[in-house]
Amino acid sequence: MKGFTLWFTGLPSSGKSTLARRVEEILLERGMHVEVLDGDEVRENLSKGLGFSKEDRDTNIRRIGFVAKLLSRNGAVAITAAISPYRGVRDEMRKAIGRFVEVYVECPIDVLKERDVKGLYKKALAGEIKHFTGVDDPYEAPLKPEVVIKSDQESVEESVAKIVGTLEVLGYVPRSGGAEFSATEEETIKRRLKDLGYI
Ligand SMILES: Nc1ncnc2c1ncn2[C@@H]1O[C@H](COP(=O)(O)OP(=O)(O)OP(=O)(O)O)[C@@H](O)[C@H]1O
Ligand SMILES: [Mg+2]
Repeated sequence: MKGFTLWFTGLPSSGKSTLARRVEEILLERGMHVEVLDGDEVRENLSKGLGFSKEDRDTNIRRIGFVAKLLSRNGAVAITAAISPYRGVRDEMRKAIGRFVEVYVECPIDVLKERDVKGLYKKALAGEIKHFTGVDDPYEAPLKPEVVIKSDQESVEESVAKIVGTLEVLGYVPRSGGAEFSATEEETIKRRLKDLGYI
């Protein structure tokens, strides 16, 4: 089986890690080799010492992208779950990796502030931490992501079905025996990928 990179991007608390772990489980069940490169874990080891300036954030993403490229070209699936706020470096990774599927996890900022999984929005809004994406640091949404998740409107399972469905339509993941998504959803996925020129 050929490898690829599944690249999640989105604001803090949007749902990247949750979806990455769930998709990982499904791909493992289908016999694929999978590694998740989660933003938090990467910053603890591979990118320890880097800060949150644009330069440091881009360096962090290039490191994640480099590892994802090595994994992808050796038949594994690399799933990245980092905010990756800058479009330019994400597109650079897409070019470098080739088999690259971008998932934009979208959610209104008010819902994110309410969710605040790690309590960081509260701190950022109180001015206790600076350069927090979505509060006082920019986020550039992708222009042509293969998948858009509306995590305030969809259940985790619905979002996962869209992602796995897209990977199946692209031919990157074998289909399972059971139907993961309905025929209508498959049509919607196909139309989107065609309109964007990905198939
Ligand atoms: N459709 C959905 N997809 C993903 N998460 C969802 C969805 N609906 C609700 N959620 C909830 O949103 C929260 C997302 O938190 P998660 O830690 O995955 O975000 P994150 O994008 O990894 O944030 P961070 O950038 O801070 O690491 C979880 O509590 C999850 O249960
Ligand atoms: Mg996360």
